[in-house]
Amino acid sequence: MTERLKDKVALIVGGARGIGKGIALRFAEEGARLVLADSEAEAGQATADELGVPFIGTDISQMADAEAAVTLALTHHGRLDIIVQNAGVYPWQLIENTSTDDWDRVMAVNLRGTFNATRAALVPMKAQRSGRMLYTSSITGPHVTSPGHGHYSATKAGINGFIRAAALEFSGYGITVNGVEPGNILTEAIQQHRGAAYIKNMEDSIPLGRLGSPRDVANAFLFLASDDASYITGTTIVVDGGQLLPEGKDFRMAPP
Ligand SMILES: NC(=O)c1ccc[n+]([C@@H]2O[C@H](COP(=O)([O-])OP(=O)(O)OC[C@H]3O[C@@H](n4cnc5c(N)ncnc54)[C@H](O)[C@@H]3O)[C@@H](O)[C@H]2O)c1
Repeated sequence: MTERLKDKVALIVGGARGIGKGIALRFAEEGARLVLADSEAEAGQATADELGVPFIGTDISQMADAEAAVTLALTHHGRLDIIVQNAGVYPWQLIENTSTDDWDRVMAVNLRGTFNATRAALVPMKAQRSGRMLYTSSITGPHVTSPGHGHYSATKAGINGFIRAAALEFSGYGITVNGVEPGNILTEAIQQHRGAAYIKNMEDSIPLGRLGSPRDVANAFLFLASDDASYITGTTIVVDGGQLLPEGKDFRMAPP
């Protein structure tokens, strides 16, 4: 432990499991004081108990819930240095089968949730004249996509545009705004929803030969949250094992 986040107060939205839990564990290792927020009360409380930190049930698509999560960080720790808006949903659905309600639900969590988290965190960060706003984007949407990811792709590309706009607007307050674009990360949700064939196909498409871990993604968040990233704002880091690189599918070079 190097204490790169010593005594920094961090709110992790979508911190119950998967990538968000990975971020919480990594930040805790580096000395951060955490608050976890998630819509899944049981899993969120279990992760919070594991770390000995406060938890609040939060539907980030609701502004009042976003504000309550920020308030908990302030009442418990007295300030808010870092917010990670990681909550996201990725239902597989072809565009021709997507209803307007389906579309709105993905927008509400992934995109409005990003706006809500930002608005809520802005109040204390603006008053403090410092803060780190961090978001989980994706390579899916900003760079690549596949059938069944229409609404999801739109939200993640939208988050990247929002990151740039917010970074510009908040630069005068000492607040930086950045994101991480994971490739294929092996979480329980991916295992449940995508299955073994999908995972094998992805392993074959990733130059580094494996899916990423939540810790791989958390390490990029840690860098962006740390003092080392104090001059970085309005950008994203790709964490994909090189998946975006190949021009064609036969990319593995035969040994000479
Ligand atoms: N796993 C991947 O390969 C991958 C790749 C790129 C991007 N992402 C993004 O990473 C993030 C986390 O994904 P994951 O794979 O760990 O999935 P996950 O389902 O394990 O984690 C998402 C978390 O967000 C919470 N959540 C969902 N809706 C919420 C809401 N309305 N309010 C508050 N919390 C809510 C869930 O309960 C869960 O704890 C998502 O934004 C996802 O789009 C994942």
